[in-house]
Formats: sequence, structure tokens, C-alpha cells
Amino acid sequence: MSTYGSVPPHPSALVESLGNLGYSLEAAVADLIDNSIAAGASLVEVCFEWNGGEPFAQILDDGCGMNEAELVEAMRLGGTGPLAVRRSDDLGRYGLGLKTASFSQCRRLTVGSRQRGDISVARWDLDAMATGGSWDLLEGTAPGSEDRISAIGSRGGTGTLILWEVLRTGTESSLARFTEGLERVERHLAMVFHRYIDGDQRRVVIRFNGQALKGWDPFVVANPATMPQRPARLRDASGHVEVRGYVLPHRDRFRNSDEHEAAGGPDGWVAQQGFYVYRAGRLIVAGGWLGLGGSREWLRDEASQLARIRVDILNTGDRAWRIDVRKATARPPAALRDSLTRIAVDVRRAAREVYAHRGMRVPSPGGGPAGGLWKSTASRRYPYAIKRDHPAVQAVIDAAEDPSMVDAMLLAIERSAPLSLAPNSVRAETEEVDEIVLAANVLLRNLLALGLDRTTAINRVAGSEPFNQVSGIAERLLLENARGTGEDGT
Ligand SMILES: Nc1ncnc2c1ncn2[C@@H]1O[C@H](COP(=O)(O)OP(=O)(O)O)[C@@H](O)[C@H]1O
Ligand SMILES: [Mg+2]
Repeated sequence: MSTYGSVPPHPSALVESLGNLGYSLEAAVADLIDNSIAAGASLVEVCFEWNGGEPFAQILDDGCGMNEAELVEAMRLGGTGPLAVRRSDDLGRYGLGLKTASFSQCRRLTVGSRQRGDISVARWDLDAMATGGSWDLLEGTAPGSEDRISAIGSRGGTGTLILWEVLRTGTESSLARFTEGLERVERHLAMVFHRYIDGDQRRVVIRFNGQALKGWDPFVVANPATMPQRPARLRDASGHVEVRGYVLPHRDRFRNSDEHEAAGGPDGWVAQQGFYVYRAGRLIVAGGWLGLGGSREWLRDEASQLARIRVDILNTGDRAWRIDVRKATARPPAALRDSLTRIAVDVRRAAREVYAHRGMRVPSPGGGPAGGLWKSTASRRYPYAIKRDHPAVQAVIDAAEDPSMVDAMLLAIERSAPLSLAPNSVRAETEEVDEIVLAANVLLRNLLALGLDRTTAINRVAGSEPFNQVSGIAERLLLENARGTGEDGT
């Protein structure tokens, strides 16, 4: 076969572009921890140092480590590719993670590893690559950085240390932004690895700048008010998939608002509703409805915020689930979409019920503030009104063909509620009367539409509470309605 000869990529151009895959800092660190977990580590120490504006990061584990040949292979771009057979607990995939995650965050990657007493150190330096233009893997640390890798030697046993230097923090970086970024990383790791930190997977301690992380459980199973749904087991080409919905507790069922907010998660309650897809126990997708919902994709709406669904896939399911290089997104295989949709419909419905109904409390006895469905008003005559933005109310208004009908009904309830002051003790304000007449009109129109004759309909509306409190209501209705339909009202 005639060829143009080998056309290798320009190292620096390729590597620079691989560094732009869109890894966030937190996703990049998580990818390195995947490697540590795959290497059998039970302790991973993540350290970020500001270092007077020249920050660096270290990720040290006590996993199996690598010998020199393995280390060189690990530094190769696309080492163990997606076609290789992996152990079921291997969190790796493309043989790119270590490199792409690192280059997305730093320009100098040094890896030290220890196996049976021998320490090997290798490094990629994008700036050296750009000037040298070669794929020569450098040996040892950069001059002056020896101390930063020494932790690997000071400990006995095996392990690996990843060192990121010349971080891409941008020119406008400040200590405040750096710290903010670290808080995000911390929350993300507590979420992504929660089943390793204190869940059902092999136990791994993750220390973040010296502090052991506590796992963040999206399903809040520690709260007895969480309602786990029946688990389901689905099958796809890659094997079985376990699915279990959870309806999380209403906010009233948390001990305090801090606990409630923490349960919401790094991005908050509304954003974090939906599916949680785990690959070999490691969280890939944290919320969202995976494009399901039929002709109109489900959005993350206020009312469904208590619905979360756990999905467990195997690491053989990558292709079927279209797991991306960053392990940040997944799409369910077509064969499972219907089953997942059905499960989600049930969980969403149950979650909306909890969200709406638990909030519907009568005003607390003893004159305390009206909670839930009712709010207090400035009016002495009608001290309580129904909250139009209450989810239960909102849902009915949204679903109603004629929302003004719902409004009319609510007004009727408010104005005739037994908790309002005695009808004659305070005179209704003019605008309150107008409101009542408006509601009466809506009701009347509906009765007419139902086929009642006008006199009967007007009598029925005018005779019922609270409309009967407005003097001359029957006449007003007759007048206004006649005008509305173009008839002669005189
Ligand atoms: N912390 C570590 N401990 C031991 N081996 C590691 C570690 N990190 C990376 N490796 C080795 O380097 C290889 C390449 O890692 P990576 O680029 O992340 O790709 P992948 O995880 O997809 O295999 C891994 O398969 C593993 O053999
Ligand atoms: Mg990896």
C-alpha cells in the first residue's frame, strides 16, 4: 500500500487540545480518584496549595502503585483503550483520564509511583513539548519540585502521587476564587464517591486538604421520612441495570433548614432532581431527566424536586449508555427508555404529592403565623388568603382550562372561610367587593355555559357565600352579564 508515510500529531498541539475537553476542576480531580480506587487504594489524600499565587495540587494514594514500565505506559496517551477488558471494579475507560484530566488543569504533570520499594517518577511538561516538539517523556520532577513528590517516599508500602504544577487558573485568579473552586471540588467529591466514602462500596477514605470527607447521599436514606420505591431490575445488552426511585422528605421533615439545604446538594433541590446514574458505584450523572418524558422532555420543575432515582450500571455499559471521556454525561440506551420513563412517571407523581400535600396545613392554632397553604393578609375582615403560588394551587391553576374559574373558587373559599371575622363586624372595602363580584361573574358564566337559564344561575350565585354578602349582587350580575353578552340589560 502506498502511503505518505507516518503523520504523527504535533505533540503540543494535540495535547493542548486534549486539555480542552471541558473538564471542570472537580471532574478532573474525580477522574484521578477513579484511578486510585481502581488501584485498590483505601486512602486518597487531595491537597491544593495556593503557594503565594503559584498554586499546585497533589493527589496521593496508597493503591498498588506502578513499576517503571507501568508508569511509562500510564503516561502514554490512550494507554489502555476502551476495547480492553477491565475488571468489574475498574473505573477507567479510555486510557486518557490521567492525562486529559491533568492537562485540562495544569501544564506540568508529574507522577511518582512506588512499588516494592522502588520509586519511579515521570513527567509531561507542555511548555517543554512546545519547544522540543517531541513525545519524549521526562524523567523525575521539575528542578526544585523534588519536595513536592517526597510524600511518596516517606511512606512505606505502595502508592502513587500525582502532582499538578503550573495550574491553569487564568490570569484573573485570586486566592478567593481559588478557595471557591476548592469548595466546589470538595462538594463534588463528597457526592461522586459517597458510596465509597460511607456507602455500600469498598470503603475509601478521601482526605481533602487534611479533612476526611463525609459522603453526600442524594437519597437521604438516613432520614426516616425518605420513601424508597420498589426496586426494579432491567436488562440491556451490557447486562443488568438496577433502578430504584426515592421520594425525598418534604422540607418540614428535616430537623432544620441547614439539613434541608445540605440534602438539596451542590446545585440545589430543583437542579438535583431526577436520575442518578452510577457506574460501578461511582456517580456519573447527578440529576436531570436524561431526555425522557415523551414528546415533551421533562424539565427540572419546582414541583418534582423531591424525586430522585438511582440507576446502577456496570462498567461494561459504557457504550450502551454513551459515557463520555470525562465520565460526566450518560444517555440511556433506547431499549431502556420506556421502562425508565414508566418508573420515573410513578416517582415523579409520588414526589409531587409529598411536595404539595405536606405543605397544606391549616393556620396554626393560637394565632401563630399561617403556614403552608394560607397566608395572612392586611385585611381585618378576611385575615387569611390562599397562596396562589402554593404548589398544590399552582398545579390546579396550570392544569385548568380556565384559570379564572380556579381563582373564583379560591376567592369563594377565602371569603366564606369560618376563620374570617363575623360578616357584619367590619365593612368590606370597595376593592374587596369588586373582587367578589368579579368572582361571582366567573361562576355565573360557567353556570350559564353549563346550560342553566339566567335567572336560576344568578339566583344560585347571588344566594351563596360569600356573594350574598354584597348587597345588590343579583342586580349587578344581571346588569353586567347582560352587557357582557350584548343583550339589553335595562
Ligand atoms: N493512582 C494510580 N495508581 C496505579 N495505577 C494508576 C494510577 N493512575 C493511573 N494508573 C495506571 O495508568 C493507566 C492509565 O490511566 P488513565 O489515563 O486514567 O486511563 P484509564 O483510567 O482509562 O485506564 C491506568 O489504567 C492504570 O494502569
Ligand atoms: Mg482513569
